[in-house]
Amino acid sequence: MRYWWLIYEVTQNHEPLNPFYVSLISQLKTPKMKIAILGTGMVGKAHASRLVELGHEAIIGTRNVTRTMANDKPDHSGLTFSEWHNENPSVKVMTFAAAAKQGEIIYNSLLGDVTIDVLTKLEGQIGDKILIDISNPLNFSKGMPPTLFVCNTDSLGEQIQDILPNAKVIKAFNTMNSHVQVNPKLLAGGDHHIIISGNDADAKQRVNELLRSYGWEHIIDLGDITTARGTEMYLPLWLRLWGSVKSPMFNIKIVTNPL
Ligand SMILES: NC(=O)c1ccc[n+]([C@@H]2O[C@H](COP(=O)([O-])OP(=O)(O)OC[C@H]3O[C@@H](n4cnc5c(N)ncnc54)[C@H](OP(=O)(O)O)[C@@H]3O)[C@@H](O)[C@H]2O)c1
Repeated sequence: MRYWWLIYEVTQNHEPLNPFYVSLISQLKTPKMKIAILGTGMVGKAHASRLVELGHEAIIGTRNVTRTMANDKPDHSGLTFSEWHNENPSVKVMTFAAAAKQGEIIYNSLLGDVTIDVLTKLEGQIGDKILIDISNPLNFSKGMPPTLFVCNTDSLGEQIQDILPNAKVIKAFNTMNSHVQVNPKLLAGGDHHIIISGNDADAKQRVNELLRSYGWEHIIDLGDITTARGTEMYLPLWLRLWGSVKSPMFNIKIVTNPL
């Protein structure tokens, strides 16, 4: 409440607001929530750390808490899960079901090909909550580059919405690397785009606020959840671009010219 004077002061100036203030105001306006992130990979850990930084309570969900805490295999950043957890001690580690039950908003950062199986079993815990789906339908069974196991006339986002009819599924973040997802300012000062898809307008509004608090300034609402076909089918291009630009740190910027 004590920050309202700041919001009042900066919004009195009718010049376009400095992006720093836009992000700060979004952080102050976004109510602090209990957010459950399903998946302990690079994506899940990146969002859990960032959400804590933004003042939220983060819970990370895994199949087996003891096994995950004891996993001695380092990830791409060189840390084992427990080393990462030592650096992020306020993140609670729970089973998928316990995390989904406690979270007010759920993030799906599971491997694409296990997503439907895992989420089907969590229908009771997820109910009508917002579910931000970051997963991609990648099939690595025939090696690299992976193919898409669902595409053209369907998408993983739609399949999730089908099995969780009451949930408000919003596809987001899946078109960029996890570092960029949680900190868009790492690229071109944040001058690039994130695309979201989903059926529920209020849920999109809440996700928009959350994205702005992460620092996202350019958010494209592509339409209903069927539009997730487009962002999921971008993955084959994303993977080839990674090979060409020799770095996963890139993203899309949409440039338009009024006719
Ligand atoms: N990596 C990126 O930068 C990036 C960018 C955009 C989108 N994505 C998408 O985001 C999702 C997460 O990516 P990631 O790299 O963080 O994933 P990941 O490390 O490969 O896997 C994430 C989680 O999937 C769960 N999982 C794996 N096999 C399972 C099984 N048989 N049954 C149940 N759960 C299982 C694991 O749970 P446990 O905790 O139990 O091991 C793990 O925490 C993927 O769908 C990916 O395509 C990734």
